[in-house]
Amino acid sequence: MTGQQRGTLGLKIGTPKELFEGERRVAMTPESAAQLQKLGHECLIETGAGAEAGFSDADYKSAGVEVAKTAAALWKAADVVAKVRAPNDTEVKRLRDGQTVISFVNPAASEKLLASAAKKGSTLVAMDMVPRISRAQKMDALSSMANIAGYRAVIEAGNNFGRFFTGQITAAGKVPPAKVLIVGAGVAGLAAVGTATSLGAITYAFDVRPEAAEQVESMGAEFVFLDFEEEQADGASTGGYASVSSPKFREVQLAKFRKLAPEIDIVITTALIPNREAPELWTEDMVAAMKPGSVIIDLAAEKGGNCKLTVMDEKIVTDNGVTIVGYTDFPSRMAAQASTLYSTNI
Ligand code: NAI
Repeated sequence: MTGQQRGTLGLKIGTPKELFEGERRVAMTPESAAQLQKLGHECLIETGAGAEAGFSDADYKSAGVEVAKTAAALWKAADVVAKVRAPNDTEVKRLRDGQTVISFVNPAASEKLLASAAKKGSTLVAMDMVPRISRAQKMDALSSMANIAGYRAVIEAGNNFGRFFTGQITAAGKVPPAKVLIVGAGVAGLAAVGTATSLGAITYAFDVRPEAAEQVESMGAEFVFLDFEEEQADGASTGGYASVSSPKFREVQLAKFRKLAPEIDIVITTALIPNREAPELWTEDMVAAMKPGSVIIDLAAEKGGNCKLTVMDEKIVTDNGVTIVGYTDFPSRMAAQASTLYSTNI
């Protein structure tokens, strides 16, 4: 029965357990359910859906959320299904006429899913198509997840790095601070800058968008300037996104990175231009020039990586002792935080 048929303005909003392997996030938290109920909606959760993000069935129940025993029961009852990952084949079978699903969709690469949903008469709302503009900030799930990924990238780097981030002078001697380079100072990159500087590392960052320099410097890091006169990408004319750099610009950029490589301990790459393969910015010879024990976290792994040695969803150690992490699930690794932010974006 739809909300309208029940004679109320409220809808029944349901969240199933995520089926994607390793996905720990959940699209509804007890707190977000309380907000939805204040707006007059009823909330429903599949049993165990929040467990891996730290929310038990009991937490939901005490927030007034009904707990469905099975996914099938949840999909049957909900007018709106809120989830993280796009519906998979099993979930598409459960879709019904008039039902709305809100999730990440990646519509450009999901032709089959869009056709099946249309055939069923249901609507998909793609969280990844929310424009990244100030007015839509509250719903900007791409940014809230990238923010978490940037933070987690630094934590992950620290976990794989054998030294302190901050320098120390003690009776036992002098410990130099770690040097961190962040390539790409967008949402994830700036979050990484903030985390690395607050841990005490000497932090450098680079971006092709000149306006990023001020943001990087305001966060206590050093912007890597190039000796290059060509007009850099004008962020304002590309909706805030970078455009592809000229071959000459790239050459100067790579020469600068090559110079930095031997002294940098941790590199976090986040460079991306929407709808393109990630540009190769940290080349094999740069990896070879790094000290043993150095760490690279390649956040662009899903789009081919900014370092071509990156293996998606894996951690490798090169012959010269450099660890390269290509995980694509950083937000899921911080499931409580990610679920809290994502559920309020919805
Ligand atoms: P964004 O668009 O805000 O930032 C990307 C930045 O890269 C922009 O500032 C852009 O100017 C810069 N850039 C583009 N080409 C460059 C170049 N040649 N040199 C230097 N900088 C360049 O994107 P956001 O949201 O920060 O995401 C960054 C990356 O993190 C994306 O690849 C995204 O898919 C990935 N990501 C990874 C996650 C994971 O778990 N591994 C989770 C979330 C996001």
